[in-house]
Order: sequence, then structure tokens, then C-alpha cells
Amino acid sequence: MRVIVECDNGAMSKRAAVFVANLVRRKPDCVLGLATGGTPVGMYQELVRMHNEEGLCFSEVTTFNLDEYYGLAPDHKESYRYFMQQNLFDHINVKPEKTHVPDGLADDVDDHCEKYERMIDESGGIDLQVLGIGSDGHIAFNEPGSSLGSRTRAKTLTQETIQDNARFFESQGEVPRFAITMGVGTILESRRCLLLANGIKKAKVIAEAIEGSVTMQVTASALQMHKDVIAVIDEDAAFLLERRDYYQHVEDMTEEWERMCDKG
Ligand code: PGA
Repeated sequence: MRVIVECDNGAMSKRAAVFVANLVRRKPDCVLGLATGGTPVGMYQELVRMHNEEGLCFSEVTTFNLDEYYGLAPDHKESYRYFMQQNLFDHINVKPEKTHVPDGLADDVDDHCEKYERMIDESGGIDLQVLGIGSDGHIAFNEPGSSLGSRTRAKTLTQETIQDNARFFESQGEVPRFAITMGVGTILESRRCLLLANGIKKAKVIAEAIEGSVTMQVTASALQMHKDVIAVIDEDAAFLLERRDYYQHVEDMTEEWERMCDKG
């Protein structure tokens, strides 16, 4: 896992946006896996800026979001579909029919989840999956105890997640109790994962996910099994990492390594 520590949330967001933008330029018809929550908001702002000022083109890009609250309509202000429209889709030239978010009102949830998985497969698979991390260690809504081989399905939210997300709702009682979420296994099939985290509140769980054991109690730790993960985190979120100096050393040595490879 490559671990990049940036000084603050703004720098984290810009660095993350560069990874996404480079992929979109290199492979204009790429498949992006997208995340919601407070963490990726700055990255989306930067991508919108790149679209407006640098002509970053999303017209051939396909997107799949990680999850959606069960019971919320797409036009509900706290639905993840609404979040994506507000924060990204309405401000770039992605084709609406190429954007996918699980349907929080699906009648037959199992069937919907199977179809979501099939659509990901048929699109050629996710090239780059953006991920936040919950304070309980979840990626998407894969709460502690989720199988590391899990697929898209309905999931019961933990009390911790409900409390964390209550800040977006008028009261805690309004936070949905269930979600439809890609599984850990689904996420691990992405060609590359980009894990983002900022703030001191994420320091403990980031240390567990990156340097702790692989365990379904911290589903983000499953990323240790993936061959291409880049974690872009800010100083606060990196606070409890024991091997932080080494991660920085690796970044410092990258140029030298590339120079040596070029010569060879
Ligand atoms: P946050 O949520 O970005 O709002 O902290 C992350 C998550 O729950 O995955």
C-alpha cells in the first residue's frame, strides 16, 4: 500500500483529484467508483475546477457509487444520489445514464443488488475506486463483522455510523437504519483503490486499517490484501501511524527510483 500524507484536507483533496484526473485523461472511458460523505467533497470541488478551467472531460466516463441509504428517494436531500448530483454530476459533463447509484427505493433489494454487480461487470469493472473510512472502520457501509468476501447487498448500520451521520440530518431519528452497499469483495475487485481520510477523529481507525491485522472488525483493513491501494490522508489522520517516516521516505525516493529505472 502506498501511503501519502498531505499537510491538510485541502492538500489531500487536490492530491486525490490528480489521481482521478490522470486516469480520466489516460483512459477517457474509464469506470470510476465513487464515494460520498464529508471526506471526498474537496476532491470533487477540485475535479469540477479541473473540468471548468482545464477542460477535464467526463463525457465517456462511467461511474458507480458505493452505497445508498435504504428508504431514501433519489431526490431526498440526504440521499447519496442527491449528494452526487450536488457535489459532482451537475457540474461536469458526465452523461446521466452513465452514472449509477444503488436505488434506495428498490422493491426487490436482492435482485437490485445482483443487477448492480452485473452492471459493474458489464462495464468492464471499476478502474479506480474512491473510498472514505468510517470511524468504525467501514469502507462503503461494510460495518464491522461484514464478510471480507461480501458482495452488494443490504446492510444494517451500526449505532456509531448512525451517530456519525446524524450531523447531516435534522435529528438522529431520521438517519436510515439500513443501506444498500457494495461488498468488501466487490471493492477488492477494483483495479485500484484510493483511500482518503482526514482529521484527528480518523487517526485511530486509519492506524488500525493500515497497520493493524486484517479483520472483518475493521473492513478497511481488507485493503491490505489488494495489490494497488493508494491512501491519501492528512497529517491529523496519519497521527497514530507508526511507520509514517518510512512512508515519507518511500515518497522521497520515488523520483530516484524512477531515474534509475529509466537509465536501466
Ligand atoms: P465521512 O464518512 O467522509 O463523512 O467521514 C466516511 C465514511 O463513512 O465512509
